[in-house]
Amino acid sequence: MKHLLLICLAGLLTNGVRAEGQESALYKDAGQPVEKRVEDLLSKMTLDEKVFQLNQYTLGWNHNVNNIAEEVKKIPAEIGSLIYFESDPTLRNEVQRKAVEESRLGIPILFGYDVIHGFRTVYPISLAQACSWNPELVKQACAVAARESRLAGVDWTFSPMVDVARDGRWGRISEGYGEDPYTNAVFGVASIQGYQGDDLSNPNHIAACLKHFVGYGASEAGRDYVYTEISPQTLWDTYMLPYEEGIKAGAATVMSCFNDISGTPGTANRYILTDILKNRWQHDGFVVSDWGAIEQLRPQGVAADRKEAALKAFTAGVEMDMMNQCYDRHLAELVNEGKISTDQVDDAVRRVLRLKFRLGLFENPYTPVTTEQERFLLPASIQVAEKLAEESIVLLKNDNQVLPLSKTAKIAVIGPMAKEKDHLLGSWANHGKAEHVVSIYDGLEKTFRNQAQLIYAQGTGFEEADKSGFAEAKAAAEKADIILLCLGEKKGWSGENASRSTIALPPIQEELVRELSQTGKPIVLILSSGRPLELNRLEPLSAAILQIWQPGVAGGNPIAGILSGDINPSGKLSVTFPYSTGQIPIYYNHRQSARPNQGLYQDIPSTPLYEFAHGLSYTTFEYSDIKLSSTQIKSGGKVTAEVTVTNSGNMDGAETVHWFVSTPVSTISRPVKELKHFEKQFLKKGETYTYRFEIDPLKDLGFINGNGDRFLENGTYYIKVKDQQVAIKVD
Ligand code: NOJ
Repeated sequence: MKHLLLICLAGLLTNGVRAEGQESALYKDAGQPVEKRVEDLLSKMTLDEKVFQLNQYTLGWNHNVNNIAEEVKKIPAEIGSLIYFESDPTLRNEVQRKAVEESRLGIPILFGYDVIHGFRTVYPISLAQACSWNPELVKQACAVAARESRLAGVDWTFSPMVDVARDGRWGRISEGYGEDPYTNAVFGVASIQGYQGDDLSNPNHIAACLKHFVGYGASEAGRDYVYTEISPQTLWDTYMLPYEEGIKAGAATVMSCFNDISGTPGTANRYILTDILKNRWQHDGFVVSDWGAIEQLRPQGVAADRKEAALKAFTAGVEMDMMNQCYDRHLAELVNEGKISTDQVDDAVRRVLRLKFRLGLFENPYTPVTTEQERFLLPASIQVAEKLAEESIVLLKNDNQVLPLSKTAKIAVIGPMAKEKDHLLGSWANHGKAEHVVSIYDGLEKTFRNQAQLIYAQGTGFEEADKSGFAEAKAAAEKADIILLCLGEKKGWSGENASRSTIALPPIQEELVRELSQTGKPIVLILSSGRPLELNRLEPLSAAILQIWQPGVAGGNPIAGILSGDINPSGKLSVTFPYSTGQIPIYYNHRQSARPNQGLYQDIPSTPLYEFAHGLSYTTFEYSDIKLSSTQIKSGGKVTAEVTVTNSGNMDGAETVHWFVSTPVSTISRPVKELKHFEKQFLKKGETYTYRFEIDPLKDLGFINGNGDRFLENGTYYIKVKDQQVAIKVD
């Protein structure tokens, strides 16, 4: 692997012998309020000690190929934070001991890591999680990740990512909760609650980091690290909500973004990081730069050198420098030159110390040493991962109820994903191990054992133009009643620095579908990917399509459960599946066109292949008309909308009701509809349930302007569920 950093532990520096008498200092007294402890400690610190607290280096073997930086060979015992790449706490404890016992003030180090969708118990990627429409389950999964992380020596995760993303070419679309601001907000909050719990000092919880503040998902043309053009209006109505809600939910930290927001990079953006985050939203945690994002102010063209980059980022409101070597080299100098005040430094350090106290690091700096079995993959944890995978799988198509499969069928299992394990983990799963993943084939074998014959052929690889396996695949298909064709993306095709010019599968995979369709046997496509896919050529050749995303360790178990009918699929899309890449950007909550029936594409349809919130079930749900408790509402009043849903089919199943609002006329044009509430309920066969949406006029019918002010106008609004709507008047 290229670009690896090896930090030499022997080089760990200590800047001085611990001063006598600190044991009895107020800041050491756990009985004192956090703010008092912070102030006491701050009053004892030298400028150099303060500056060290504002830096983060790496510790151990950096296994992230995108994290490129100058090697930091000597880590001072006074360092504020380290990125911790290990999965057991030995190294952490060793380094922590130096900080606690050999630095003058004994300030513990904060250890961070990218725990994105599970630590060892890897669960589905975030884009998939949102398709479950089950935030409670996501909260549980994040709590599992928190426990495993803390036991591995990690106190702080760089998650959740709540970047609204509408361009499937952008590899990082996999890391957020899809195209809708409200959905990102709800799942971001669930994830923060799961990681942090009620008390950060609880040894089962870790600090969260909302990222990447803000607008990274608007990356031009789906390229990574590039410019984003975001008007104030779009900033507020599309990108800010998940952050605002995440801060209200208590997110301990925030990460600044790589992108240049209409001329001012996020990492040098005082409006966003200070005026809004710290002043308006009163966030009392800290902002960490993204990896190298301060130094990158140079190539972004707003700083001539590292020193100017440090000045810009720091005064904008970035408190911690993640691997830039800007603050450690230049902050003290900038203070001595009077360009940064001591008060500003104190405010930044205060924020970092506050989190360390809240995490209980001064009382419990070390991680208990446990066995891998005690730390990871507890049966209850795997159960959560399996349940989340099950609920996030989306049945996109099911012609003539070809699914569920008869357990006595002869089934051809074909494709490069069929026996694959590693790629089912998805990106950002570095502590995940392929050996813990159930492949699709293994899941099928277990489920269909003694009941169906499985005939396997790989058919082709992921992308090489090699058809040598086609004949074997065709022969397998000829012998079977049905073909399960397992295709998709390698895990490295999405995530950071993984942009693609097309969201179609590689030509060889499409060719295999065409070839097998000649057998006349029904094809069930099973697709694993980290992005929405272009399926217009494959859809007509398939009887059914199951989008499994990147499910994590559970892998083939829930997939086999759904194919067999033991599990009724309940996932619905958190992101639009375009008809083709050329439609991008395409998303449900777009503004109305000036000529809705004109301006359409001449060569392809102008509507997507699968809409946001699309997803099929094996049962049927009948909806009543929407009822409102009143058709008029005043600002400050409340109205309840209700819809009654009956499971009218032959199987138990879960149904999510999505509540949208729209208004045809407003002083600022509004999206054609916006999601404001959703609810998922499990309904037994024949059961009826009334879904409710308590409408808060300002929050649900109101809108936000380019200053971030929410307002409500008199007029007519529509409450929408599926294809019906009712009017409500605000006066
Ligand atoms: C860069 C990524 O953008 C960010 O999401 C991640 O947390 C850091 N690297 C640290 O790995």
